[in-house]
Amino acid sequence: MFENLKPQPADKILHLMQAFRDDPRPVKVDLGVGVYKDAKGRTPVMRAVRSAERLVWERQETKVYTAMAGDGAFLSGMRRLILGAETGAAIATVGGTGALRQALELIRAASPHVTIWLSDPTWPNHPAIIDHMGLRRARYRYFDAATGGLDVPGMLEDLARVKAGDVVLLHGCCHNPTGANLSLAQWAEVAAVLERAGAPALVDLAYQGFGDGLEEDALPTRLLAQRLPEVLVAASCSKNFGIYRERAGVLLAVGGDRALVQDNLAAVNRLTVSFPPDHGARVVSTILDDPALAADWRAELEEIRTGMIALRGGLAVALRDACQTDRFGFVAEHRGMFSRLGLTVAQAQALRDRHGVYMLDDSRINVAGLSRDSIPVVAKAIAAVL
Ligand code: LMR
Repeated sequence: MFENLKPQPADKILHLMQAFRDDPRPVKVDLGVGVYKDAKGRTPVMRAVRSAERLVWERQETKVYTAMAGDGAFLSGMRRLILGAETGAAIATVGGTGALRQALELIRAASPHVTIWLSDPTWPNHPAIIDHMGLRRARYRYFDAATGGLDVPGMLEDLARVKAGDVVLLHGCCHNPTGANLSLAQWAEVAAVLERAGAPALVDLAYQGFGDGLEEDALPTRLLAQRLPEVLVAASCSKNFGIYRERAGVLLAVGGDRALVQDNLAAVNRLTVSFPPDHGARVVSTILDDPALAADWRAELEEIRTGMIALRGGLAVALRDACQTDRFGFVAEHRGMFSRLGLTVAQAQALRDRHGVYMLDDSRINVAGLSRDSIPVVAKAIAAVL
Protein backbone atom coordinates (compact mmCIF):
# COMPACT_ATOMS: atom_id res chain seq x y z
CA MET A 1 0.00 0.00 0.00
CA PHE A 2 2.60 2.54 1.06
CA GLU A 3 4.41 2.19 -2.28
CA ASN A 4 1.43 3.94 -3.90
CA LEU A 5 2.11 7.14 -1.98
CA LYS A 6 3.48 10.11 -3.88
CA PRO A 7 6.11 12.52 -2.55
CA GLN A 8 4.39 15.64 -1.24
CA PRO A 9 5.32 19.11 -2.43
CA ALA A 10 7.35 20.94 0.22
CA ASP A 11 5.40 23.65 2.08
CA LYS A 12 7.27 26.81 1.14
CA ILE A 13 6.83 28.50 4.49
CA LEU A 14 7.82 25.52 6.63
CA HIS A 15 10.71 24.67 4.28
CA LEU A 16 12.10 28.18 4.71
CA MET A 17 11.70 27.92 8.50
CA GLN A 18 13.84 24.77 8.47
CA ALA A 19 16.42 26.27 6.09
CA PHE A 20 16.86 29.21 8.49
CA ARG A 21 17.35 26.86 11.44
CA ASP A 22 19.95 24.88 9.48
CA ASP A 23 21.89 27.97 8.36
CA PRO A 24 25.14 28.02 10.42
CA ARG A 25 25.95 31.70 9.72
CA PRO A 26 26.10 33.75 12.93
CA VAL A 27 24.40 36.78 11.35
CA LYS A 28 21.05 35.88 9.79
CA VAL A 29 17.58 37.39 9.90
CA ASP A 30 14.38 35.33 9.83
CA LEU A 31 11.56 37.18 8.07
CA GLY A 32 9.88 33.92 7.03
CA VAL A 33 7.21 32.10 9.00
CA GLY A 34 4.44 34.21 10.53
CA VAL A 35 5.36 33.99 14.18
CA TYR A 36 5.66 37.04 16.44
CA LYS A 37 9.11 37.74 17.82
CA ASP A 38 10.15 40.33 20.38
CA ALA A 39 13.24 42.56 20.18
CA LYS A 40 15.40 39.68 21.38
CA GLY A 41 14.05 37.35 18.71
CA ARG A 42 12.00 35.30 21.18
CA THR A 43 8.36 34.29 20.87
CA PRO A 44 7.40 34.80 24.51
CA VAL A 45 4.54 33.25 26.44
CA MET A 46 2.23 36.21 27.07
CA ARG A 47 1.86 37.31 30.71
CA ALA A 48 -1.87 36.60 30.86
CA VAL A 49 -1.37 33.18 29.27
CA ARG A 50 1.16 32.22 31.93
CA SER A 51 -1.21 33.34 34.70
CA ALA A 52 -4.19 31.59 33.10
CA GLU A 53 -2.21 28.36 32.73
CA ARG A 54 -1.44 28.49 36.44
CA LEU A 55 -5.15 28.99 37.22
CA VAL A 56 -6.16 26.12 34.95
CA TRP A 57 -3.59 23.88 36.62
CA GLU A 58 -4.89 24.81 40.06
CA ARG A 59 -8.59 24.57 39.25
CA GLN A 60 -8.88 21.73 36.77
CA GLU A 61 -10.07 18.51 38.37
CA THR A 62 -10.52 16.32 35.34
CA LYS A 63 -9.21 15.87 31.83
CA VAL A 64 -12.34 14.07 30.66
CA TYR A 65 -13.64 14.97 27.18
CA THR A 66 -15.37 18.28 26.64
CA ALA A 67 -18.31 18.44 24.20
CA MET A 68 -17.89 17.70 20.48
CA ALA A 69 -18.32 21.41 19.84
CA GLY A 70 -15.74 22.28 22.51
CA ASP A 71 -16.12 24.12 25.79
CA GLY A 72 -19.07 26.52 25.99
CA ALA A 73 -17.19 29.28 27.81
CA PHE A 74 -14.55 29.36 25.06
CA LEU A 75 -17.18 29.49 22.31
CA SER A 76 -19.06 32.31 24.06
CA GLY A 77 -15.89 34.29 24.67
CA MET A 78 -14.73 33.95 21.07
CA ARG A 79 -18.15 34.90 19.69
CA ARG A 80 -18.07 38.08 21.77
CA LEU A 81 -14.47 38.84 20.82
CA ILE A 82 -15.08 38.41 17.11
CA LEU A 83 -18.73 39.24 16.51
CA GLY A 84 -19.33 41.44 19.54
CA ALA A 85 -22.37 39.29 20.40
CA GLU A 86 -23.33 35.68 21.11
CA THR A 87 -24.57 35.14 17.57
CA GLY A 88 -24.35 32.01 15.47
CA ALA A 89 -23.27 28.40 15.72
CA ALA A 90 -19.71 27.63 16.84
CA ILE A 91 -17.16 24.86 17.37
CA ALA A 92 -13.70 24.81 18.85
CA THR A 93 -11.13 23.67 16.31
CA VAL A 94 -7.55 22.53 15.98
CA GLY A 95 -6.14 26.03 15.50
CA GLY A 96 -7.14 28.42 12.72
CA THR A 97 -6.19 25.92 10.02
CA GLY A 98 -8.50 23.38 11.67
CA ALA A 99 -11.27 25.99 11.57
CA LEU A 100 -10.70 26.51 7.85
CA ARG A 101 -10.72 22.80 7.27
CA GLN A 102 -13.98 22.35 9.20
CA ALA A 103 -15.52 25.27 7.32
CA LEU A 104 -14.63 23.59 4.04
CA GLU A 105 -16.00 20.26 5.33
CA LEU A 106 -19.30 22.00 6.11
CA ILE A 107 -19.32 23.73 2.72
CA ARG A 108 -18.60 20.43 0.95
CA ALA A 109 -21.40 18.69 2.85
CA ALA A 110 -23.86 21.45 1.91
CA SER A 111 -22.75 22.16 -1.69
CA PRO A 112 -20.06 19.80 -3.01
CA HIS A 113 -19.84 21.53 -6.41
CA VAL A 114 -19.40 25.02 -5.10
CA THR A 115 -16.46 27.21 -6.16
CA ILE A 116 -14.36 28.84 -3.44
CA TRP A 117 -12.97 32.22 -4.50
CA LEU A 118 -9.53 33.14 -3.17
CA SER A 119 -7.67 36.43 -3.24
CA ASP A 120 -4.70 36.58 -5.60
CA PRO A 121 -2.34 36.13 -3.81
CA THR A 122 -3.39 34.31 -0.66
CA TRP A 123 -1.92 32.10 2.08
CA PRO A 124 -0.57 29.08 0.13
CA ASN A 125 -2.35 26.63 2.43
CA HIS A 126 -5.76 27.92 1.25
CA PRO A 127 -5.51 26.50 -2.29
CA ALA A 128 -3.57 23.48 -1.00
CA ILE A 129 -6.37 22.40 1.38
CA ILE A 130 -9.10 23.16 -1.15
CA ASP A 131 -7.33 21.06 -3.80
CA HIS A 132 -6.70 18.26 -1.32
CA MET A 133 -10.42 18.17 -0.55
CA GLY A 134 -11.34 18.06 -4.23
CA LEU A 135 -13.23 21.34 -4.11
CA ARG A 136 -13.24 23.86 -6.95
CA ARG A 137 -11.54 27.19 -6.65
CA ALA A 138 -11.15 30.46 -8.53
CA ARG A 139 -9.16 33.63 -7.91
CA TYR A 140 -10.16 37.26 -7.58
CA ARG A 141 -7.75 40.12 -8.09
CA TYR A 142 -6.66 41.82 -4.87
CA PHE A 143 -3.14 43.18 -4.92
CA ASP A 144 -1.42 45.67 -7.21
CA ALA A 145 2.19 44.53 -7.28
CA ALA A 146 3.29 47.76 -8.99
CA THR A 147 2.20 49.97 -6.08
CA GLY A 148 2.23 47.47 -3.19
CA GLY A 149 -1.40 48.51 -2.64
CA LEU A 150 -4.83 47.10 -3.46
CA ASP A 151 -6.50 46.54 -6.79
CA VAL A 152 -10.02 47.33 -5.59
CA PRO A 153 -11.60 47.85 -9.05
CA GLY A 154 -10.15 44.49 -10.19
CA MET A 155 -11.38 42.83 -7.00
CA LEU A 156 -14.93 44.17 -7.36
CA GLU A 157 -15.02 43.30 -11.05
CA ASP A 158 -13.99 39.70 -10.34
CA LEU A 159 -16.36 39.33 -7.39
CA ALA A 160 -19.21 40.51 -9.60
CA ARG A 161 -18.70 37.24 -11.54
CA VAL A 162 -19.25 35.10 -8.44
CA LYS A 163 -22.31 32.85 -8.82
CA ALA A 164 -25.06 32.44 -6.24
CA GLY A 165 -23.91 29.94 -3.62
CA ASP A 166 -20.21 30.26 -4.41
CA VAL A 167 -18.13 31.00 -1.32
CA VAL A 168 -15.71 33.92 -1.15
CA LEU A 169 -12.77 33.54 1.19
CA LEU A 170 -11.66 36.88 2.63
CA HIS A 171 -8.85 37.75 5.05
CA GLY A 172 -10.74 39.52 7.84
CA CYS A 173 -7.73 41.73 8.63
CA CYS A 174 -3.96 41.78 8.12
CA HIS A 175 -3.95 40.20 4.66
CA ASN A 176 -1.46 37.36 4.31
CA PRO A 177 0.86 37.62 2.34
CA THR A 178 0.52 41.24 1.17
CA GLY A 179 -0.23 43.33 4.29
CA ALA A 180 -2.52 45.51 2.12
CA ASN A 181 -5.99 45.84 3.63
CA LEU A 182 -9.38 47.22 2.62
CA SER A 183 -10.80 50.28 4.36
CA LEU A 184 -14.17 49.85 6.06
CA ALA A 185 -15.83 51.70 3.17
CA GLN A 186 -14.23 49.25 0.71
CA TRP A 187 -15.40 46.33 2.87
CA ALA A 188 -18.92 47.71 2.56
CA GLU A 189 -18.55 47.66 -1.24
CA VAL A 190 -17.37 44.04 -1.11
CA ALA A 191 -20.30 43.11 1.16
CA ALA A 192 -22.72 44.75 -1.30
CA VAL A 193 -21.28 42.75 -4.22
CA LEU A 194 -21.53 39.47 -2.29
CA GLU A 195 -25.05 40.35 -1.15
CA ARG A 196 -26.10 40.93 -4.76
CA ALA A 197 -24.43 37.69 -5.86
CA GLY A 198 -25.98 35.64 -3.05
CA ALA A 199 -22.54 34.36 -2.08
CA PRO A 200 -21.63 33.44 1.50
CA ALA A 201 -18.32 34.70 2.88
CA LEU A 202 -15.69 32.57 4.59
CA VAL A 203 -13.58 34.91 6.69
CA ASP A 204 -10.08 33.83 7.69
CA LEU A 205 -9.33 35.78 10.87
CA ALA A 206 -5.86 34.74 11.98
CA TYR A 207 -4.42 38.07 13.15
CA GLN A 208 -7.14 39.91 15.09
CA GLY A 209 -5.40 42.58 17.18
CA PHE A 210 -2.30 42.78 14.98
CA GLY A 211 -3.64 45.38 12.55
CA ASP A 212 -5.53 48.45 13.75
CA GLY A 213 -6.63 47.10 17.15
CA LEU A 214 -8.64 44.23 18.60
CA GLU A 215 -12.06 45.83 18.00
CA GLU A 216 -11.09 47.57 14.76
CA ASP A 217 -9.80 44.33 13.23
CA ALA A 218 -13.15 42.64 13.92
CA LEU A 219 -15.24 45.34 12.22
CA PRO A 220 -15.06 43.92 8.66
CA THR A 221 -16.17 40.50 9.91
CA ARG A 222 -19.04 42.06 11.87
CA LEU A 223 -20.08 44.09 8.85
CA LEU A 224 -20.17 40.96 6.67
CA ALA A 225 -22.10 39.06 9.36
CA GLN A 226 -24.70 41.85 9.47
CA ARG A 227 -25.04 42.25 5.72
CA LEU A 228 -24.90 38.69 4.38
CA PRO A 229 -27.39 35.89 5.06
CA GLU A 230 -24.59 33.35 5.64
CA VAL A 231 -21.06 33.90 6.94
CA LEU A 232 -18.42 31.50 8.22
CA VAL A 233 -15.53 32.78 10.33
CA ALA A 234 -12.39 30.68 10.84
CA ALA A 235 -10.44 32.32 13.65
CA SER A 236 -7.11 31.48 15.21
CA CYS A 237 -5.87 32.13 18.75
CA SER A 238 -2.30 31.23 17.74
CA LYS A 239 -1.08 34.74 17.10
CA ASN A 240 -3.12 37.07 19.29
CA PHE A 241 -2.73 34.81 22.35
CA GLY A 242 0.73 33.59 21.27
CA ILE A 243 -0.31 29.95 21.82
CA TYR A 244 0.77 28.60 18.44
CA ARG A 245 1.48 25.02 19.50
CA GLU A 246 -1.67 24.65 21.59
CA ARG A 247 -3.80 24.70 18.42
CA ALA A 248 -6.72 26.79 19.61
CA GLY A 249 -9.19 28.12 17.06
CA VAL A 250 -12.88 28.55 16.48
CA LEU A 251 -15.28 28.23 13.58
CA LEU A 252 -18.34 30.47 13.72
CA ALA A 253 -21.31 30.13 11.38
CA VAL A 254 -23.81 32.96 11.25
CA GLY A 255 -27.14 32.50 9.45
CA GLY A 256 -29.50 29.68 8.63
CA ASP A 257 -31.18 27.47 11.22
CA ARG A 258 -28.76 27.81 14.12
CA ALA A 259 -29.61 24.40 15.67
CA LEU A 260 -29.19 22.61 12.34
CA VAL A 261 -25.90 24.33 11.58
CA GLN A 262 -24.64 23.64 15.12
CA ASP A 263 -25.57 19.98 14.79
CA ASN A 264 -23.65 19.73 11.52
CA LEU A 265 -20.61 21.55 12.89
CA ALA A 266 -20.46 19.21 15.90
CA ALA A 267 -20.72 16.23 13.53
CA VAL A 268 -17.84 17.58 11.44
CA ASN A 269 -15.69 17.64 14.59
CA ARG A 270 -16.81 14.14 15.60
CA LEU A 271 -15.99 12.74 12.16
CA THR A 272 -12.52 14.28 11.99
CA VAL A 273 -11.05 14.91 15.44
CA SER A 274 -13.87 13.60 17.65
CA PHE A 275 -13.27 16.21 20.36
CA PRO A 276 -11.30 19.41 19.80
CA PRO A 277 -8.22 20.08 21.96
CA ASP A 278 -9.05 21.93 25.16
CA HIS A 279 -5.95 23.30 26.86
CA GLY A 280 -5.38 26.36 24.66
CA ALA A 281 -9.11 27.05 24.45
CA ARG A 282 -9.42 26.91 28.25
CA VAL A 283 -6.50 29.29 28.67
CA VAL A 284 -8.24 31.69 26.29
CA SER A 285 -11.60 31.52 28.09
CA THR A 286 -9.86 31.87 31.47
CA ILE A 287 -8.34 35.12 30.20
CA LEU A 288 -11.48 36.44 28.54
CA ASP A 289 -13.66 35.71 31.60
CA ASP A 290 -11.28 37.39 34.07
CA PRO A 291 -11.36 41.21 33.77
CA ALA A 292 -7.83 41.69 35.15
CA LEU A 293 -6.29 39.02 32.94
CA ALA A 294 -8.24 40.25 29.92
CA ALA A 295 -7.00 43.80 30.49
CA ASP A 296 -3.41 42.61 30.79
CA TRP A 297 -3.73 40.48 27.64
CA ARG A 298 -5.18 43.41 25.70
CA ALA A 299 -2.37 45.67 26.93
CA GLU A 300 0.37 43.23 25.91
CA LEU A 301 -1.27 42.62 22.54
CA GLU A 302 -1.40 46.37 22.00
CA GLU A 303 2.34 46.61 22.79
CA ILE A 304 2.97 43.93 20.18
CA ARG A 305 0.80 45.70 17.61
CA THR A 306 2.31 49.14 18.09
CA GLY A 307 5.79 47.62 18.16
CA MET A 308 5.20 46.14 14.71
CA ILE A 309 3.94 49.49 13.41
CA ALA A 310 7.14 51.14 14.70
CA LEU A 311 9.21 48.46 12.93
CA ARG A 312 7.28 49.16 9.74
CA GLY A 313 8.06 52.86 9.99
CA GLY A 314 11.72 52.14 10.70
CA LEU A 315 12.09 49.79 7.76
CA ALA A 316 10.35 52.16 5.33
CA VAL A 317 12.77 54.96 6.27
CA ALA A 318 15.83 52.69 6.19
CA LEU A 319 14.83 51.36 2.75
CA ARG A 320 14.27 54.86 1.43
CA ASP A 321 17.72 55.90 2.62
CA ALA A 322 19.56 52.73 1.56
CA CYS A 323 17.85 52.32 -1.82
CA GLN A 324 17.34 56.01 -2.63
CA THR A 325 13.75 55.37 -3.65
CA ASP A 326 10.25 55.79 -2.25
CA ARG A 327 9.05 52.54 -3.77
CA PHE A 328 8.89 50.82 -0.37
CA GLY A 329 6.81 53.54 1.32
CA PHE A 330 3.83 51.15 1.45
CA VAL A 331 5.58 49.12 4.17
CA ALA A 332 4.68 51.83 6.69
CA GLU A 333 1.04 51.89 5.53
CA HIS A 334 0.47 48.13 5.55
CA ARG A 335 -0.87 46.44 8.67
CA GLY A 336 -0.41 43.07 10.30
CA MET A 337 2.54 40.78 10.30
CA PHE A 338 3.32 40.77 6.61
CA SER A 339 4.26 42.93 3.66
CA ARG A 340 5.11 41.81 0.19
CA LEU A 341 8.09 43.87 -0.95
CA GLY A 342 7.75 43.35 -4.70
CA LEU A 343 11.22 41.86 -5.24
CA THR A 344 11.90 39.18 -7.84
CA VAL A 345 12.37 35.55 -6.86
CA ALA A 346 16.06 35.87 -7.81
CA GLN A 347 16.43 38.89 -5.49
CA ALA A 348 14.70 37.08 -2.61
CA GLN A 349 16.97 34.08 -3.10
CA ALA A 350 20.08 36.28 -3.30
CA LEU A 351 19.08 37.90 -0.01
CA ARG A 352 18.97 34.47 1.56
CA ASP A 353 22.12 33.04 -0.06
CA ARG A 354 24.39 36.08 0.09
CA HIS A 355 23.08 38.05 3.05
CA GLY A 356 21.35 35.53 5.35
CA VAL A 357 18.08 37.49 5.11
CA TYR A 358 15.26 34.95 4.89
CA MET A 359 11.98 35.93 3.22
CA LEU A 360 9.59 33.91 1.06
CA ASP A 361 10.39 33.74 -2.65
CA ASP A 362 7.43 36.03 -3.34
CA SER A 363 9.27 38.60 -1.11
CA ARG A 364 6.76 38.38 1.75
CA ILE A 365 8.43 39.53 4.95
CA ASN A 366 7.31 38.91 8.52
CA VAL A 367 7.70 42.40 9.97
CA ALA A 368 7.88 40.99 13.50
CA GLY A 369 11.10 39.21 12.51
CA LEU A 370 12.80 42.63 12.33
CA SER A 371 14.44 44.45 15.21
CA ARG A 372 15.94 47.92 15.55
CA ASP A 373 19.36 46.31 15.10
CA SER A 374 18.48 44.22 12.08
CA ILE A 375 16.59 46.92 10.13
CA PRO A 376 19.77 48.61 8.78
CA VAL A 377 21.25 45.19 7.93
CA VAL A 378 18.13 44.18 6.01
CA ALA A 379 17.83 47.54 4.23
CA LYS A 380 21.48 47.41 3.16
CA ALA A 381 21.09 43.84 1.91
CA ILE A 382 17.96 44.75 -0.08
CA ALA A 383 19.76 47.75 -1.62
CA ALA A 384 22.61 45.40 -2.60
CA VAL A 385 20.36 43.00 -4.51
CA LEU A 386 18.18 45.60 -6.26
C1 LMR B 1 2.39 31.98 7.88
O1 LMR B 1 1.72 32.35 6.92
O2 LMR B 1 3.61 32.08 7.92
C2 LMR B 1 1.69 31.41 9.10
O3 LMR B 1 0.32 31.39 8.88
C3 LMR B 1 2.25 30.11 9.52
C4 LMR B 1 1.86 28.96 8.63
O4 LMR B 1 1.39 27.96 9.17
O5 LMR B 1 2.03 29.02 7.41
